Amino acid sequence: MKMQYDIVIVGAGLAGMRAAIAAAEKSKKLSIAILAKTYPIRCHSVCAEGGTAAVLREDDDYDLHAWDTIKGSDFLADQDAVEFFVRNAPKEILRLDNWGCPWSRREDGRIAQRAFGGHSVNRTVFAADRTGFHEVHTLYERLLIYDNVDIFSEYFLTNLIVENGSIKGVATIELKSGDLVIFETKATVLATGGAGRLYGFTTYSHQVTGDGMAVAYRCGVPLKDMEFFQFHPTGLVPSGILMTEACRGEGGYLRNKFGERFMEKYAPEKMELAPRDVVSRAMWREIIEGRGIDSEFGSYIALDLTHLGEDKINERLPMIRDAAIKFAGVDPVDEPIPVRPVAHYTMGGIHSNKNCETQIAGLYVAGECACVSIHGANRLGSNSTIECLVFGKVAGEMAAEYALNSSGSHVPKDFILNEESRIFDHLLGRNGDENPYSLKKELNETMDKKLWIFRDRDGLSEAVGKIRELKERYSNVEINDKSKGFNTDLTSTLEIGYMLDLAEVVATAALYREESRGAHYRIDFPKRDDVNWLKHSLAYYTPEGPVFKYIPVTITKWKPTERKY
Ligand code: FUM
Repeated sequence: MKMQYDIVIVGAGLAGMRAAIAAAEKSKKLSIAILAKTYPIRCHSVCAEGGTAAVLREDDDYDLHAWDTIKGSDFLADQDAVEFFVRNAPKEILRLDNWGCPWSRREDGRIAQRAFGGHSVNRTVFAADRTGFHEVHTLYERLLIYDNVDIFSEYFLTNLIVENGSIKGVATIELKSGDLVIFETKATVLATGGAGRLYGFTTYSHQVTGDGMAVAYRCGVPLKDMEFFQFHPTGLVPSGILMTEACRGEGGYLRNKFGERFMEKYAPEKMELAPRDVVSRAMWREIIEGRGIDSEFGSYIALDLTHLGEDKINERLPMIRDAAIKFAGVDPVDEPIPVRPVAHYTMGGIHSNKNCETQIAGLYVAGECACVSIHGANRLGSNSTIECLVFGKVAGEMAAEYALNSSGSHVPKDFILNEESRIFDHLLGRNGDENPYSLKKELNETMDKKLWIFRDRDGLSEAVGKIRELKERYSNVEINDKSKGFNTDLTSTLEIGYMLDLAEVVATAALYREESRGAHYRIDFPKRDDVNWLKHSLAYYTPEGPVFKYIPVTITKWKPTERKY
C-alpha cells in the first residue's frame, strides 16, 4: 500500500511531536503524517523524570548555560550549536506553559527550577518527577488541534527511500495488518530516539532500539560520536528503572558501605551534583574496589533520601517513592534506595548540523537519534528534553520549508518489491538455526561487560569480534512466528539487526578513540588528548563494517581547559 504526505515524521516522542506542530504551524497547506512505533503517549519520552533545562532566573544567563554544557561535554560539543540551543530553550518552556504544561511552581507562582548535575545554578524546570509525562501529554493535546496532521500509531520503520541524494519516501510495516506501507513524501524528519537497548542494564523502554539511526546509517548517512554512551549514576537495582537525578538535586546523598559520602574524594565542590560521567565513574570505582553494599543482585550504592523527610519526597519525588517501594521493596522515606550506574543516553547519533539537516536533501533529524552536537562526550542532565523541543521545532520548520518548495515524490515499484522480498521472503520466510533472542542476550552481555564505564583495548577488541560473530549468526536467524498481523517476532528480529549494526559502530569507534573524554573512559589512555582527539568521529556504513572519518569540533569562544568539579 502507498500513501502520500508532504512531510512524514518518524517518531512520536517529544522531538517528533514538536516537529509536527512546528510544520503544521508553518502552513495549513502541508499534509503531515506522524508515525509512532507504539502510540504517541506511550513514547519513551514519558520516562523523562527530573526536568528540562532553560535560563529563566535572574542569577542565570545564556553564556553560563552554554559554558556548563560545553564543559560538561568535555569540550566535544559544537559551540555554535550550543549557543543557539541555550537561547531558544526558554522560549520552549514558556510555549509549553502556554499550552498547559503543569510545571511545578514557586510559592509566588513563578516556574520552579531545581538543581541538576553540572549546572551552576538551579536551571531545571520540572513537573514533580513526571516531567516527560506532562510534556508529552501537553504536546499531544496540542497536536490534536491541527487538521493537517494525521497520526499513524503502530507503524514500524523498515527503510528510507533515497534517490539521487534526496528523500523520496519511508517504508514501514503496519503492525495490525502486517503489510508493508510506503509513505511517499517530499520531506522526512527522523525523531526515533536513542539506542539504549543495546545494553541489558538500562533505563530505556524495550522499544528504544535505534531504528532510525540504523536505517539512516544503512542509507549512507554517517553516525557521529557513537562511542559516547551515557551511564546515569542511579539505576534502581535490580531492574534499572531510572531513579531521577532530581533525587540528588533535591538534596539526596550517595553513600558507600561505610556510610561515607564518597563523592568528596572525586568532586569535592559539586559532590553528588557533578556531571553524570564523573559520578558514575566514582560509583563504579567504589563498587570494584569493594566499598559497595553486597546484595543478591550484586554490589550497589545507597541513594539516601531519608533526611529529606516524607513531605518533600511526596511533593517532589512521588513517582520515585512509588517505584522504589514497588520494584525494590524499599520506602525511601525510611531507608536508602539501592542503585548502580545504568545505560541511559546515546550522545552520538545521526550526523546533522544545527539546522537538523543531514547529507540527504529533505531528510532532517531531531532529538536523541540526532547528533548536532550539543552534548559532545557527556550530556548534562535535563539538556535532553529541551533539545527535543528546541531542535524538534527547527526540524519541523526546515522540513516544511523544504516541502513547500519541492515537487511530489514517486517511489518506484521496484523498491517496494525489493523491500517486500527482503523482509517477508528472506527474513520471515527463512529457515535457520539461530534464535534472535539468544543473539540479543549475548549482545547485551557484551555491551554490559566490554562497553561499560571503564574500557580498554583488549575488552573493546573482544567486543568488536563478538559483535561481528553475532552479525554473522544473524544471517542464519529463524523467526518462529510466520503470521502477519502483530508479528512482534518479526519486528523484534528487525530491531536486533539494527542493534547489531549500531553496536558494531559503538564498539569500533570506542576502540579507535585512544583517549578518555566525557563518558568514554579508557583505562589504557586515561587522559584527554586534545592534540589528537579533539574531533568528532563519523562512521559510514559498508557491508564489511563501519569506515571512519573525523571532522573538527566548532569552537567559538570557550577554549578547552582542564575539567574539574
Ligand atoms: O535523572 C533524570 O531525571 C534524567 C534526566 C535526563 O536524562 O535529562
